[in-house]
Amino acid sequence: MKICIVLSTRPEIIKLAPIIKILKTKKEKFFIVNTNQHYINIMSKVFFNYFKIPKPKYNIKAPTRTHGAFFSKSINEIEKILSKEKPDYLIVQGDTNTALAGCLACSMYNRKFSNPEKKIKIVHIESGLRSFDEKMPEEINRKLVDELSNILFPPTDFDVKNLKNEGLNKKKIFKVGNTISDVIKAYLPKIKENKILNILNLNKKKYFLVTAHRPESVDNISNFKKLLNSFEKIGKIFSTKFIFPVHPRTQKILNKLKIKNLQYVCFLKPLEYLDFMKLMLDSRIIFTDSGGLQEEASIIGVPCITLRTTSERQITIKKKTNIITGYDHKKILRATKKFYNKKMKKHKFFGDGNVSKKIYIKLKANLKKY
Ligand code: UD1
Ligand code: UDP
Repeated sequence: MKICIVLSTRPEIIKLAPIIKILKTKKEKFFIVNTNQHYINIMSKVFFNYFKIPKPKYNIKAPTRTHGAFFSKSINEIEKILSKEKPDYLIVQGDTNTALAGCLACSMYNRKFSNPEKKIKIVHIESGLRSFDEKMPEEINRKLVDELSNILFPPTDFDVKNLKNEGLNKKKIFKVGNTISDVIKAYLPKIKENKILNILNLNKKKYFLVTAHRPESVDNISNFKKLLNSFEKIGKIFSTKFIFPVHPRTQKILNKLKIKNLQYVCFLKPLEYLDFMKLMLDSRIIFTDSGGLQEEASIIGVPCITLRTTSERQITIKKKTNIITGYDHKKILRATKKFYNKKMKKHKFFGDGNVSKKIYIKLKANLKKY
């Protein structure tokens, strides 16, 4: 079995780490293609190092100034790599432009062959998520990747249902959970020991944690200002600070607006995984527009407020571990009041920490079938 893994962004590196670990342990042949969609150390190299991920065999320096420039360079380069390497599988994770680029390149490569044996099977991990909001580039990416993939690994029944509703072949769908449950299972003891609270002079459950990086939350200046104003008001009401590790996209906007610190909002650089997860674990409530944080919050048992109008993590809404508020202060305040004294359980609906093993077994067993 030979596998090509196409990745780049922070959540892809984190969520593919347990798969890569199994492939290393089992001495399987695999190689990594990094599109360099995320390129600064703290969004990329830090995670490669921490999770002991081998250096990418191929680094495509795809320009990120426009989506068109990114796709044309990355698809072209990945197709060439596939022609040279001829792996059995190409794995992509989630809904980023990197995932779609890998998938499209493989699909283009496969067009050359009528013999199915010669085609590279496209594997989509974290398949089936839908926000039903086509204004999000990720929604388009997810749908296209699912349509073009040969093996789909959705995390929950909600995601399976979405795939079936779109008429995708049941035989290619395998519900396994989300590999983030493996990551948290493996690293929770280390997360608990982490000393970031002392370093930042914070007390357990006495602060809120916030992240925001979606174009509609930060590039849309009106929404971004609404969020910051709401944090300032809520911070005052609860005498509680918001700790905000800032994504590079968001940093650009803060620079543009010349905002440094606010009374109740403390901006930090992006954090390494253990530091960040410890901040999450001990925060009173998590406020975010991130996809991955909605999952992690339910797994570690911290209430989550999603600063968006939709969520593709539908199970978290259903299980009431997550409230969607959009950008409206009244809604954010109402959700904060609801969650402020709420004791939340740890949930296992994203998996049991053995998700990557299940994926590995399926890939090994089904090598010849597709
Ligand atoms: C991307 C994904 C998003 C995911 C997020 C994870 C798409 C369409 N979006 O969003 O689904 O949730 O990654 O964090 O694929 N930048 C840097 N250095 C970096 C990375 C980004 O400066 O290492 C800045 C650049 O100005 C870039 C901007 O951030 O133009 C946006 O980066 P991009 O990768 O396009 O989208 P993200 O917002 O990171
Ligand atoms: N994360 C991190 N440091 C940070 C912010 C987030 O390690 O400063 C981790 C977080 O624990 C989660 C992932 O990055 O596993 C989420 O990334 P992001 O929010 O950028 O992407 P999304 O999940 O929205 O695609």
